[in-house]
Amino acid sequence: MSEPFEDLNPAPRLLMGPGPINADPRVLRAMSAQLLGQFDPQFRDYMKQVSELYRGVFQTQNRWTLLIDGTARAAIEAALASLIEAGDRVLVPVFGRFGHLKVEIARRFGAEVKAVEIEWGTVFTPEQLEKEIKAFRPKIVAVSHGDTSTTMAQPLQELGKLCRAHDALLYVDATATLGGMDLQTDAWQLDVVSAGLQKCLSGPSGCAPLTLNERAEKRIVNRRHVEAGLKTADTVEGGGPVIRSNYFDLAMIMDYWSDKALNHHTEATTMLYAARECARILLQEGLKKAFSRHALASKALSEGLAAMGLKLFGDQKHKMANVTGLYIPQGVDGEKVRRGLLKDFNVEIGTSFGPLHGRIWRIGTMGYNARSDAVLNTLGALEAALSQEKFKAPRGAAVDAALAVYRKA
Ligand SMILES: Cc1ncc(COP(=O)(O)O)c(C=O)c1O
Repeated sequence: MSEPFEDLNPAPRLLMGPGPINADPRVLRAMSAQLLGQFDPQFRDYMKQVSELYRGVFQTQNRWTLLIDGTARAAIEAALASLIEAGDRVLVPVFGRFGHLKVEIARRFGAEVKAVEIEWGTVFTPEQLEKEIKAFRPKIVAVSHGDTSTTMAQPLQELGKLCRAHDALLYVDATATLGGMDLQTDAWQLDVVSAGLQKCLSGPSGCAPLTLNERAEKRIVNRRHVEAGLKTADTVEGGGPVIRSNYFDLAMIMDYWSDKALNHHTEATTMLYAARECARILLQEGLKKAFSRHALASKALSEGLAAMGLKLFGDQKHKMANVTGLYIPQGVDGEKVRRGLLKDFNVEIGTSFGPLHGRIWRIGTMGYNARSDAVLNTLGALEAALSQEKFKAPRGAAVDAALAVYRKA
């Protein structure tokens, strides 16, 4: 253990788990910039730039595209707190741990929740979802795009249309996919979408971009409430039921991000700098190129793992492009291998939760780490760590297979 007064000196880890991942050095540099007051005109400009940049990232024209201060879960909570009125029916398709999280949050805000579950490692068909929507008639559907716990990505192209046809609002948790997989907020008719920086956006956790369209705005503005200490003679409130969280009240947060600049929390200046740089990096590369880079890293990693004789987890047609699940081989102590990877190679990979705990590992290839050197080093390290555990893979086969994928690309 280090002493509290020692200099901060984190080990040079290669973070290849399901997030967080290593931040792009450009993001770390942006975070060392001096602070500004939240109502400084220069800072208000930065806020506007952030909205504009994230419109590009979310592929939307939505006016309300902003940041929630907190980890990705904060934006999920803000979306659900602000959309759900007590007694509302909320449908949650659950295909992993993060579906259950949305069930839990929706229940806390007084919703009547229906959780539809399928086996982990699979996703829903549009027909299954349509049947559930028709039967339950929800006000809100809340779904993950990619669930890192199972490494599966739910196709969403049809769901927005279905929700519109049945007068439901659609909330999408894109924490784990934004920037790594295509997600077309407007074209797919997604009403509210949120994310976090620490996965495909190459930043630290602690900031959650969110976008919402006019359908969601209407519902939220109807619940607009202004704190007594901020009210003026011309304050107009919505009249609908007050949102049950102050910190996560999107109506208040929208007032704060608007030209009214109505005081709410003290904006997390450094995290806003980080978010701005994350979006600049992604958009400078181009969304299409970034998606292809993630897909290529995933293919190279998957082929490398297969060449080692390891079995991938779940329906490969619906695997996320940025996280890969693989079965821990029989007789191998999964935690011992992970400890060996960290100690001997400075490489971190993930375990999983609930029914998959101790059965699969999860390896992320996302954001700044969706690079050939990161993939090749991870495969080489895993092969060596496994051999310490008496799992003998053909030596060098994994790295060769992954290299072949990169050479062919
Ligand atoms: C799909 C999904 N949603 C939500 C979260 C929670 O994010 P955070 O830990 O940033 O609150 C995660 C984290 O892994 C996730 O993968």
